[in-house]
Amino acid sequence: MTLYLFDDLAMTRKEIMTKEKILLKFGGSLITKKNSEIPKINIANLERIGELLNNKKYDLIVVHGAGSFGHPIAEKFNLIDGLDESPEQKKSIKEIRNQMKKLNQILCEIIESKGIKTRSIIPSESMKTRGAKHISQFPKKMFDKCMNEGKTPVTFGDATDDELQGINILSGDVIMMELARIYKPAFSIFIMDYPGVMDGELNSTNSHLIPIINSNIIAEFKQKERNNKTTDVTGGLIGKLECALEISQYSQCWITNLDSLNLALLGKPKGSKVVQ
Ligand code: IPE
Repeated sequence: MTLYLFDDLAMTRKEIMTKEKILLKFGGSLITKKNSEIPKINIANLERIGELLNNKKYDLIVVHGAGSFGHPIAEKFNLIDGLDESPEQKKSIKEIRNQMKKLNQILCEIIESKGIKTRSIIPSESMKTRGAKHISQFPKKMFDKCMNEGKTPVTFGDATDDELQGINILSGDVIMMELARIYKPAFSIFIMDYPGVMDGELNSTNSHLIPIINSNIIAEFKQKERNNKTTDVTGGLIGKLECALEISQYSQCWITNLDSLNLALLGKPKGSKVVQ
């Protein structure tokens, strides 16, 4: 016979009543024209996201990247290395934060138009960092409140006040790590513009999907890191895989694309699975 303490029973009931969570990150290369020097959205992909997000099985938490709304300006004004006190850089911080808010607003409006209530959680106003990979102040209460009200939190990579260097570029991938650690969602899914992590020359016939990503594969990638033509100040694929590896301690973690979002929302993701 199993004896339950009252608290255990209450916990069990509560767990049954609460839907499991799914954490999604839409990469900047998916929702914007990433190679554009000026901010440009990818409206076709944004609309597809709106259509596909019609989900009943899980509570959603959404994170998105920056693409052309963040990377070019962050690189131009060296925001990754902290404050340099120049008036140009000061102006660029305002600009990048505004651009990110704009991108977030566009995504939220599209999701809302399909009947999902959202709430933006703006990192430049609610988070602080200690270097690129460590969030020292995280608005957990805001996320909790928003989900308790039945809304979907939507947050994003941003320029945050940093305790070590004044300013930092916080990647949505690092926010994913924090959210996975706190909420232990059933799934954490990175939605990119490829069906998973690809080996070989991208878009060529010898390119194929790597079904399982682990620390050995990441080490191999690091070794043969090729020159990436796009501007990505937050570490590109390797940075993302390192975050994903950490997330896989807390949650099933996958890298996939929009074609498989539907399956992911049914709890049957496809693509590259990241494992410890
Ligand atoms: C970058 O965030 C944030 C800024 C450059 C302001 P991400 O690292 O999450 O963005 P993507 O997905 O690579 O575009």
